[in-house]
Amino acid sequence: MKEYVQKILNEGTVIMPDILKVDHLLNHQMDINLLNDMGKDFYAYFKDQGITKIVTVESGGIGLACFCAMHFCDVPVVYAKKEASSILSTHALSSTVHSFTKNKTYTITVDQRFLLPTDRVLIIDDFLANGQACLGLCDMIDKAGATLVGVGIAIEKGFMKGRSLLEEKGVDVHSLMIIQAFEDNRIILK
Ligand code: G4P
Repeated sequence: MKEYVQKILNEGTVIMPDILKVDHLLNHQMDINLLNDMGKDFYAYFKDQGITKIVTVESGGIGLACFCAMHFCDVPVVYAKKEASSILSTHALSSTVHSFTKNKTYTITVDQRFLLPTDRVLIIDDFLANGQACLGLCDMIDKAGATLVGVGIAIEKGFMKGRSLLEEKGVDVHSLMIIQAFEDNRIILK
């Protein structure tokens, strides 16, 4: 078993009742060795796909996307913003995302200068649950006329519908760990 998977199994806590808290490792405090090892594994999977851009959504995916990008040669990271910006507005690509986990709807935006029709895009995110964030990013990539190569996820909640929604659209989803269930506050892997 990968060291980062073991660490998440040992140190992650399950709360209310199907949320995994790993904010000391992944999405608040960041364990840079763990992120680097994950980034290396995304690179190993997608390295031959001619990726020109790594795209994520703020905030949880940004650290992971940056560590992933370090393993590709000269590939920038673009993160979609959740706050509307008057500076961006005239040149922004946007999409609407509904988060079931957080029960709110928000608009994500990317300046169109950073997503070009020539781009081959890898989406990276920390969690895949209902897949809404990734679907919003897919929509923006479509609007830009860019090519989506695949989606790399650190932790997939395999009992939720995110993967099937993305695969229905023909998206290649690569998750580093897939949780089948939470039982008695323990993580059961697929
Ligand atoms: P999705 O990310 O697959 O679209 O599913 P959903 O809309 O349900 O998730 C909403 C937010 O909740 C996402 O963060 C996602 O990363 C986060 N999330 C979902 N399940 C878990 C979990 O088990 N543990 C943790 N820690 N987060 C979870 P976000 O809205 O993109 O915002 P941010 O938290 O990255 O800023």
